[in-house]
Amino acid sequence: MRKNIVAGNWKMNYNIEQTQQLINDLKTSLERVTYSARVLVAPTFVNLSAAVSSTKGTSIEVAAQNVHQAESGAYTGEISADMLQSVGVKTVIIGHSERRTYFEEDDTLLKEKVKTALAKGMEIIFCFGEQLDERKSGNHFSVVESQLKNVLFDLDVNQWKQLVLAYEPVWAIGTGETASPAQAQEMHAFIRNLISKAYGEVVGNSISILYGGSVKPANAEEIFSKADVDGGLIGGASLKSADFTAIVTASKS
Ligand code: PGA
Repeated sequence: MRKNIVAGNWKMNYNIEQTQQLINDLKTSLERVTYSARVLVAPTFVNLSAAVSSTKGTSIEVAAQNVHQAESGAYTGEISADMLQSVGVKTVIIGHSERRTYFEEDDTLLKEKVKTALAKGMEIIFCFGEQLDERKSGNHFSVVESQLKNVLFDLDVNQWKQLVLAYEPVWAIGTGETASPAQAQEMHAFIRNLISKAYGEVVGNSISILYGGSVKPANAEEIFSKADVDGGLIGGASLKSADFTAIVTASKS
């Protein structure tokens, strides 16, 4: 059975005190509720170490928002997979639309990042999704298919165990506009089918496919209730412990 996952992408928000405060608030509020999803939070690089310490002994896991493709070397300002692991981070988000748009990360680069992170034994939350004009012109399925095929489809079956997918239509990220539960389900089923065709049904049925894009307490339960939606990657609403906790509890058991 695949796992439901709710991950909070904190982006470039919160200093160290605020990060620790939010983690403490989350610990308290998650203790009061029942849920079965894996819960991850992804603070900015400088706060990862503190976040790992603050979450010790809890079920909250810490993820990074990015990683460099090289193992080490003269790449001023960059962070390697080894560095992440040395502070206790085992999961990394790769391919977020903001990295694709603002930092020009394309399929070729993302493929290198994925290869490096996998070789280092990390789990990857791989993000992808179409732009608004691509959906309007009816190209969303082919765009998503090529984003996945270009980066992930020459990996071997075993490497897929280290992958989590996050479908995030770009037009729904931070805009308040969400894909309808039916639109999310339609795309998630399409993605699962692509993977099943390429790698077999066991892989297709065991990969967790998260939805991301303006998920909030008011819409989480309906989106998460869809058969092929295995949780969410949450931006804005993950910055408040009450909202994030409500979203965690909305995930399927
Ligand atoms: P949002 O962001 O929930 O604020 O739309 C989602 C994301 O960027 O992963």
